[in-house]
Amino acid sequence: MLIHRPRRLRQSPFIREIVTEHKLSADDFIYPVFVKDTKAPEAIKSMPNIMRHSTHSLLKEIEESLKLGIKAFALFPVVDEGKKSSNAAESYNPDSLNQKTIQLVKKNFPEVIIIGDIALDPYTDHGHDGLISDGKILNDATVEILSKMALAQAEAGVDIVAPSDMMDGRIKAIRSALDNKGFQDTMIMAYTAKYASCLYNPFREALDSLSDNKKNTGIPQDKKTYQMNYANAKEALRELELDISEGADIVMVKPAAWYGDIIKSFKENSSVPIAAYQVSAEYSMIYAASEQGWIDLDKAMHESLTSIKRAGADLILSYFAKDFLREKTS
Ligand code: PBG
Repeated sequence: MLIHRPRRLRQSPFIREIVTEHKLSADDFIYPVFVKDTKAPEAIKSMPNIMRHSTHSLLKEIEESLKLGIKAFALFPVVDEGKKSSNAAESYNPDSLNQKTIQLVKKNFPEVIIIGDIALDPYTDHGHDGLISDGKILNDATVEILSKMALAQAEAGVDIVAPSDMMDGRIKAIRSALDNKGFQDTMIMAYTAKYASCLYNPFREALDSLSDNKKNTGIPQDKKTYQMNYANAKEALRELELDISEGADIVMVKPAAWYGDIIKSFKENSSVPIAAYQVSAEYSMIYAASEQGWIDLDKAMHESLTSIKRAGADLILSYFAKDFLREKTS
């Protein structure tokens, strides 16, 4: 006699359903959206189905997403080349596209949670997340700008600021800048373990922040002096400790699928909710393979998102958010 037959619990759809450990719902998702100063929404070649929205089409996108139950949106501006500079001054301009979009969305949908990106890369002419001097990314001078940027977004009405830059000490600086001006309730979602990954390329195309060949220009050719080495796991715990002690309300692991071990270690060591970012190429790779007919889009979307939740993410930033929920409700 065989006593243990795990297959008993897999024998029909109903029994499989009721013993499912991890299920995704609309409340798991944060939907990243792009906005550009443009009349008509523009396609992004390396991210099928994702748009650089006009402010008008963004409002429609949010309205449709709300109907599917999505409550939170991570906003990324595509900044006109003419507004980029070496000191990223546009990032804290109260009349910038980003700040105006925050105001517009909050006016139309006051209940929606807007998560503002805090990093210089959309605004610098070289595409780095920090100021550069003598070929080096400056930490403390960058943090000062990040604080101004967080304040400008809080003044525009953002609910959560999300520093995605990986400078040291930015959570503490941003927290105190916000509190000094009475924004005690503005939340901080820290990109805590953000790895120097090849998986951000389609996003950089979306933002036009893919910088040209930087050889011999005195500009660092990659982001390895601030984003983490993907060979390191313990170092993520150090970042976690720092961000929580500096006041992060939510911590994030990025990318997601190849970093399930990091998500899990955060789950075991964090006292605050954990977000994971299924980044642009995670999305695009699944899409590309499915367009070749090599994998099934819906199945791969479902399996990848479930794996991120199973690893321990409380929140998932995903370009699939809308498709996934539409699929589920149809
Ligand atoms: C930069 C930033 C990046 C992403 C979000 N914020 C790219 C980078 O670090 O170069 C990537 C998101 C994605 O790939 O979907 N502050």
